[in-house]
Order: sequence, then C-alpha cells, then structure tokens
Amino acid sequence: MASSTSEASVPESAAPDSIVSITGLEKTYKGGHHALKSVDLEIRRGEIFALLGPNGAGKTTLIGIVCGLVRASAGTVIADGHDIAHDYRAARAKIGLVPQELSTDMFETVWHSVNFSRGLFGKPRDHARVEQVLRALSLWEKRNSKIGTLSGGMKRRVLIAKALSHDPTILFLDEPTAGVDVELRRDMWEMVRALRDQGVTIILTTHYIEEAEEMADRIGVIDEGKLILVEEKAILMRKFGRTRVTIGLKEPLAVLPPELVDSRVKLADDGHSLLITLMGEGDGQAGAADFVKKLGASGIDFRSIETARSSLEDIFVGLVGKRP
Ligand SMILES: Nc1ncnc2c1ncn2[C@@H]1O[C@H](COP(=O)(O)OP(=O)(O)OP(=O)(O)O)[C@@H](O)[C@H]1O
Ligand SMILES: [Mg+2]
Repeated sequence: MASSTSEASVPESAAPDSIVSITGLEKTYKGGHHALKSVDLEIRRGEIFALLGPNGAGKTTLIGIVCGLVRASAGTVIADGHDIAHDYRAARAKIGLVPQELSTDMFETVWHSVNFSRGLFGKPRDHARVEQVLRALSLWEKRNSKIGTLSGGMKRRVLIAKALSHDPTILFLDEPTAGVDVELRRDMWEMVRALRDQGVTIILTTHYIEEAEEMADRIGVIDEGKLILVEEKAILMRKFGRTRVTIGLKEPLAVLPPELVDSRVKLADDGHSLLITLMGEGDGQAGAADFVKKLGASGIDFRSIETARSSLEDIFVGLVGKRP
C-alpha cells in the first residue's frame, strides 16, 4: 500500500502514534551548564505524560525548547508533524504552554489578554470560543478585571485560558499546581482530564508526585539532564512497587516457626507482629492471601492485617535519591 502524502512531513523514525518526537536533545547554557544530555522522548497522541525530576533537573529547559523559548544546542523536535527548527510557526500553533513563572500582563483585563493570545498564533477572532474557555475555568465573572488584581490561583487560571485560547493539540503545564489550594488543584485535575478526553495531549511537570500518580498515563523521570526512565504508570507501580503486609499476632512469638521462614518475612522485635514485604502489586494481594493460609496451617492466630503499597513517591525517591 502506498502511504498517503499527508504523512510526508513526519520522519520515518517517529512512532505512528507519536505527537511529539524528541531526538538527541542537548542543551548547554552559556556559562557551560549542561542542562540536557542526549534526551530522546516520544509523547503519544492523547496521553497525559508527567515529567518528574528534582529541582534543576532540566524539566523547564526541555519544555522551553519544545515551545521555542530556549534554543537547543543539538537534536530535533517534531511537534504534531512540524519540526520546531524549520517550521516553527506551524509547530508553535499546535502548542499551548502554561509557564512555571506567573508573569503576565498585569494591567490588561482577562478578556483582552486571552483574546490577544489567540491572535498571537494567527487564529481568527472567536469571542464565543474565548467565552467558552473562560467559563470552563470559572473566569467568566472576572473577564473585565485587570489580571494584577486577581488572586494567585485566579492568575494561574488566566495563564491556562491563554494557553488554551488558540485550541492547541499539545498542552504543556509546567508546575500548574505549585502554590494553589486543594480546591483549585482538584479543579485543574478535572480540567486536564476533560482536555485529554477532547483529544488534547498533556505534558505536565509537578513536584506533587501524588498528582502524577493520580493523573498520568505515563511517567518520565529526569535527573541532572538525563531522562532516566519512561514507563507506563501502571507498569512502573507494578515493577518497582512493594506491598508491605503487617500481621498483628494474638500471642507473641519468640522465633519464626521454620515453615514460615522466608526471605520476605520478618518477625517484629517485640514478637507481636509479622512484617512481610512483597514485590509488585499483583504479587502483593496473592502473596498476602497465601501467607495468611500458611499461618492458619501453623495454628497461629492473628488479630489484624494491614497492607500498605508503596506510592509513586516512594518509587521516585528510590530511583532518584533524596535531594536537599
Ligand atoms: N537561562 C539559564 N542560564 C543558565 N543556566 C540555566 C538557565 N536556565 C536554567 N539553567 C540551569 O539549568 C538547569 C535546569 O534548569 P530547569 O529550570 O530546566 O530545571 P527544572 O527541572 O525545571 O527545575 P525546577 O523543578 O526547579 O523547576 C539548572 O541547573 C538551572 O540552573
Ligand atoms: Mg522548572
């Protein structure tokens, strides 16, 4: 079968479902800091991708390059079929960016600022569309307010409205929930999911790892400029996750009976409980049930069973190590 001509601008190396294709990306800042080291990354169309990493890892630099704010030292970026170096305007028109820093035109009204953003990307005026965006972000009532007079959370909503004003297919959210209250965070999660359901591909960075755990389809971990891991969240949790089972005993034990000796099982120092560490989520459930059966067979009574799974945060700290 001959391929259709519309695919001609997408290089053969790009995966068919890939919407952002990053190859061999390098960034060395003036002054010599090597902020990105040979980064290869494919973002899949329609996914929520969370990029995690400690302060200074290179997340904002990576986003800045894809959005044309930072010049790459080497490498290529294709965004929705357009090379950002050779076809910048077309690439940028596909991308919305909610920047990490809260800097915007403080003296403008919300309405003017969002309409202006739309125009910047060459989109025709569309007041109905802008109204829709503002209403979806609970900003409609504030449309005539000057941005400088709004609260921090509301300013962040304005940044999101601006990023969405030109109907991008790819949305970058760089720390969208830094410093916002729980309610706005929940609202944002809902909004991000709604956008994904409409077909927008979302790439977000966050220091709230539970946010990535709740939202992301896939996780990338970057550390000191190197992308050290990219994985489906579910697989990551299964591969690296542990289940800890604590079984409270009715009567304390002095030693573990021989039939229960197993590298995964420990008797607590006071002899009142058994601590079992199981790798992987699936193994966790089955393993715990198995162990309870063995206890029954050994005639050991227990009064409680608690299971705790490692969170994505535990996994992240295990991968990257704690940072000051
Ligand atoms: N304009 C610049 N000039 C020189 N160095 C820079 C510049 N911008 C960033 N850097 C350096 O590059 C590294 C990566 O910074 P970047 O902002 O990409 O990290 P980040 O992962 O977004 O961190 P954070 O979680 O704090 O937002 C840091 O060491 C930073 O100091
Ligand atoms: Mg950053």
